[in-house]
Order: sequence, then structure tokens, then C-alpha cells
Amino acid sequence: MTQEQWTAVDRYFTDLFVPSDPVLDAALEASAAAGLPPHNVSPNQGKLLLLLAQLQRSRTILEIGTLGGYSTIWLARALPSDGYLITLEADAKHAEVAQSNIARAGLSDVVELRVGQALSTLPQLAPEGRSPFDLIFIDADKPNNPDYLAWALKLSRQGSLIIADNVVRKGAVIDTASNDASVQGIRRFNEMLASEPRVSTTVLQTVGSKGYDGFAIALVVAD
Ligand code: SAH
Ligand code: DHB
Ligand code: MG
Repeated sequence: MTQEQWTAVDRYFTDLFVPSDPVLDAALEASAAAGLPPHNVSPNQGKLLLLLAQLQRSRTILEIGTLGGYSTIWLARALPSDGYLITLEADAKHAEVAQSNIARAGLSDVVELRVGQALSTLPQLAPEGRSPFDLIFIDADKPNNPDYLAWALKLSRQGSLIIADNVVRKGAVIDTASNDASVQGIRRFNEMLASEPRVSTTVLQTVGSKGYDGFAIALVVAD
């Protein structure tokens, strides 16, 4: 199997199930034009995030790692009008592009973008009464994933869904000797999920336009 084949099959399903959407297309175009890295979830993956948030009837969503707001838009579209999504981004330029993409999507009223290192902005949320979150999407710097999971658990309740992107990393996740800080962070994150009695977890391996990777999906089963 080749990347070319994965991309072609991804396009086949995208053409069938993810009708092109001017707002999402414009978000990707503006992100690329501003020189942001193409690290957004793919269209099919965005649709997966939307469906999971809808299935769960999410009213409050936390996202760690905004980039240009592509996954933000997918997730925020699942929200009822009185719901909200808080998204955390360290890079001011990414945040600026995201804010404009979110505005174009008509989602400025439900999305709040906080600029700063997530480990600095996460501690503000509970004291401000913004938690618990129904759904938490972890997709920022992978070396910090263990800390992000600890925060996600603090900011969740029984029934919350914790989703993390990029937990397979082309299979590098099983390299116990890896010196890559991202692989080490993801491995520690996976081990934490496995030993955490508050969550029930699976990993969905994915192939497609973004290569071989995967999502961890963890249901919080106790307060
Ligand atoms: N969720 C986005 C992709 C996010 S890419 C999507 O699918 O569309 C990862 C993002 O995390 C980048 O924008 C990067 O700047 C941001 N990031 C990296 N380290 C961070 C940190 N410590 N705190 C907050 N954001 C961080
Ligand atoms: C990278 C980060 C991501 O969140 C992603 O989905 C793909 C790639 C990266 O840092 O390379
Ligand atoms: Mg990602």
C-alpha cells in the first residue's frame, strides 16, 4: 500500500461524504497562504470529530492546539447555540489566522480563542467556571501530551470524551527506544490512559491524505 493509494481512497470518501464547503475550503486556503504548516486534520477526520461531538451532544468543548482553526470549525459546528468551544494556541500568528477563519465561519460567538502556552492557560479554566467540558480534543505539542491528559481529566466529568490526534505517528509509537520527544510523549500518554481507571479507551488507526496515524478516543467513565 502506498501513500498515493491512501490519498486517492481518502479523496473518494471525501467526495462522497464531505461535500466541499466554502468556509472550510477558505480556512485551509487562508492557512496555507499565511504559511501555516499543513497539520490540520483531514476533511474526513474533521467529519469524524463532528460526528463524535454530535453523538455525544457536546455543549462545551475544549481544544488544545488551534493552528488555523480547521478542526475548531468542525467541532464548533456540533454545538447548540448556547454551547461554547474554548481553543488554546501558543503561536500568535496561528491564532490570528484562526480568528479570521472562525469569524468567516460565523462561529465567533461560540468559539473563544486563548493565546498562550496551553500549560499556562489550562489552569484558568476551572476557576473561571468553564469546566467541565463534554469533549476535549488534544492536538498540540506532543511532548506535553501527558500533562494535557492530566488537565483533560481534571476538566472532565463522567461522560466526557477525550480525543487525541497523532497517537500512531507512522507506527513510531511502538519504538520503545525512540529518542523523539513526541514519540516519548505519546507513549507516556497512552500508558497513562491505560492505567487510568477513570477512562475507557480505544485507538483508531488511520490512513489517508495525512499518511498513517491515529486517534485515541477515551470515554470518562467516572467523575
Ligand atoms: N487542531 C488543528 C491542528 C493543530 S497543529 C487542526 O486539526 O486543524 C498544533 C498546534 O498546536 C499548532 O498551531 C501549534 O502552534 C500549537 N501548539 C504547539 N505547542 C503549543 C503549546 N505549548 N500550547 C498551545 N498550543 C501549542
Ligand atoms: C504534526 C502535528 C499534528 O498535530 C498533525 O496532525 C500532524 C503533524 C507535526 O507536528 O508534524
Ligand atoms: Mg494533529
